[in-house]
Amino acid sequence: MKVAVIGSGEMGRGIALVFAQYGNEVNLDDSFPEALEKAKKYINDNIAKMAEKGIIKPGEDEQIRKRINYMSVLEEAVKDADLVVEAVPEIVDLKQNIFATLDKVCKMDAILATNTSNIKISEIAKNVVHKERVLGLHFFNPANRMKLVEVIRSEETGDEYFEKAVKIGESIGKTAVRVLKDSPGFIVNRINAPDMLFFCLVIDKNIERPEELDAYAKGQGLPMGPYELMDFVGLDTVAHSLDYYAQTLSEEYKKCNSIRELVKNGKLGKKTGKGFYDWSTGKAAIPKAEASEKVTMMDIFAIEINEAVKLLEEQVALPDEIETAVKLGLNRPFGPISVAKSLTNAELKKMLENLSKTFGVSVFEPAKSIKEGKLKEIISIKAFPAAAGSKKEEKASGGIAPNVQGERKYSNIILEKRDNYVARILLNHPKHNLINSDLLNDLENAIKEIWDDKEIRVVVITGAGEEFSAGAELSQFIPGLFDFVEYTRKGERIFKLLQEIPKIVIAEMKGYVLGGGFELSLSCDIRVATPDVQIAFPEVTLGLIPAWSGSQRLAKLIGMSRASYLILTGKRITGEEAKNLGIVSEIYQKGTIDNDTLKLAESLATGVSPIAAALAKRLINRGSDISYDSGLEMESMAAGIVYGTEDLKEGISAMLQKKKPNFQGK
Ligand SMILES: NC(=O)c1ccc[n+]([C@@H]2O[C@H](COP(=O)([O-])OP(=O)(O)OC[C@H]3O[C@@H](n4cnc5c(N)ncnc54)[C@H](O)[C@@H]3O)[C@@H](O)[C@H]2O)c1
Repeated sequence: MKVAVIGSGEMGRGIALVFAQYGNEVNLDDSFPEALEKAKKYINDNIAKMAEKGIIKPGEDEQIRKRINYMSVLEEAVKDADLVVEAVPEIVDLKQNIFATLDKVCKMDAILATNTSNIKISEIAKNVVHKERVLGLHFFNPANRMKLVEVIRSEETGDEYFEKAVKIGESIGKTAVRVLKDSPGFIVNRINAPDMLFFCLVIDKNIERPEELDAYAKGQGLPMGPYELMDFVGLDTVAHSLDYYAQTLSEEYKKCNSIRELVKNGKLGKKTGKGFYDWSTGKAAIPKAEASEKVTMMDIFAIEINEAVKLLEEQVALPDEIETAVKLGLNRPFGPISVAKSLTNAELKKMLENLSKTFGVSVFEPAKSIKEGKLKEIISIKAFPAAAGSKKEEKASGGIAPNVQGERKYSNIILEKRDNYVARILLNHPKHNLINSDLLNDLENAIKEIWDDKEIRVVVITGAGEEFSAGAELSQFIPGLFDFVEYTRKGERIFKLLQEIPKIVIAEMKGYVLGGGFELSLSCDIRVATPDVQIAFPEVTLGLIPAWSGSQRLAKLIGMSRASYLILTGKRITGEEAKNLGIVSEIYQKGTIDNDTLKLAESLATGVSPIAAALAKRLINRGSDISYDSGLEMESMAAGIVYGTEDLKEGISAMLQKKKPNFQGK
């Protein structure tokens, strides 16, 4: 693809580099020769660094360099381009004029994208005739390294151009999030907007000094304190954004004084050597001992969740996209949606009411849905009403569709009811089928849904696609120690349902079966695996322990010595090794494991009495916890129950007549 990047400054140079790195021909245009020279140096230095670190293959550095042409005549740079990315300064008239020119000189089907941070796409496209091809591609700084790109559509953007732009974003190694409405600040900057106002008001009202909040925030794991970050970005840029939000979101964004005062005095942050901090040594001095908790992370999270809810109410982006954008755009381990899941509506409402009262601004007042007690509802939506028809592509469910009687899609799992008394539960989380609180809820609901269903006798648990599960989602936000205890208990409780359900449960292990994924498989009655499956408990290497019953179940299954070795070393084993240890019962080949497991499931569902299987399963599981004599007592009682069943008569008569039994579960 041929790409033209207009403006070779802070952003344009990184955008040009990443497109060239992924094999595209790039024309990088700037009207100032010195700017082009600087960009060339930046690009070449970065290519050299990538080569040094082995990020690119030997010889590739020269190819990437050759793909970038440095140009100074806009019309020349863009005439053959399939995609143009404009990255000139944030000045409306300048961008409008450039887009009017692009409309005239570019190929008819070229995508015309702007990297604007704030300005509405429709405003930039004001003088464009073919507005359907104008959209936003909002990269983050440094564009060659940050993983996120927001793809923004205006009302006039054509569906085809929008979807093509999403694919282009993904083709250069980015996570492309869909911004469905042309709204101020899009996702990341919008979530950050009330934060900036908040931090400014904290200083204006003498609640804390920058060092106090920054030292606290860094102690909580943020890479930079909020004031340090604003100094780093440039206080003029921050003030400019606040002015823009005052015009577009709320007049209250004008209320901030301290930042404007610093800008008025030429203290713009790192670039002028002074801002909130003195940067003369190249670093801001933020002593750890200054940390204070007058303002807490929860205040910041509450403000961000509130803004995320407003984005959802305005139908700008879906919850998953907001979560991803904030994580990647702000380098956070979790975003506002996962924090919101850990709070009650009432808690959040109260926090926001207090903040709004303390700071005297309605921007912090609870959003409509929070006022109405609908927090959980709005953060769980999967599609906006208008977009309901345009469902996201679903993940493949292992390549076998026939014999499916019914399918229920939960958010993170698929429950497939099949012929011959078999059901499959497919973990379906986009990232390695990681297990989080939502997935556990889905699993619990699916287990309960099939618990009394007499049409299901055997359940297969596996992952949609090539993997079982790479474990627990570690970025899930858990507010405190007690919450973590409860989260652990939740996993234990839900996995135990698999042990309790009166049906045979088979774990089909493929790809990665790590940590929580391994624990899930251990809660099943039978495990089958591919020869090369990767199985491990890596918890101790991360400072954790297997805590969804793994520390207990593995020792019961293979003995203390072997379990200790696997848990204490975090060692990875293959399916073959797991079979030798007695963890896995059957090895099936990678290409056929889905079908082979189903065959096993069907043979059990039709070949064994469901009542006998349920009772035998209970005896095995309970027997390991009670005395031998109590176990024998349970065994004789269970034998008494099966003795009275129709299935026993059917089993014996089928054996005598040398035919297949037809068990009725009676
Ligand atoms: N800097 C960031 O962190 C960041 C992040 C995301 C988005 N953005 C947005 O990206 C855009 C560019 O920001 P930046 O920080 O790279 O600005 P910058 O000032 O560093 O670079 C802009 C470049 O555009 C060139 N230029 C000016 N007029 C031109 C014209 N008519 N034709 C060609 N080149 C021209 C300038 O010489 C300069 O090299 C802005 O819209 C900004 O809001 C910036």
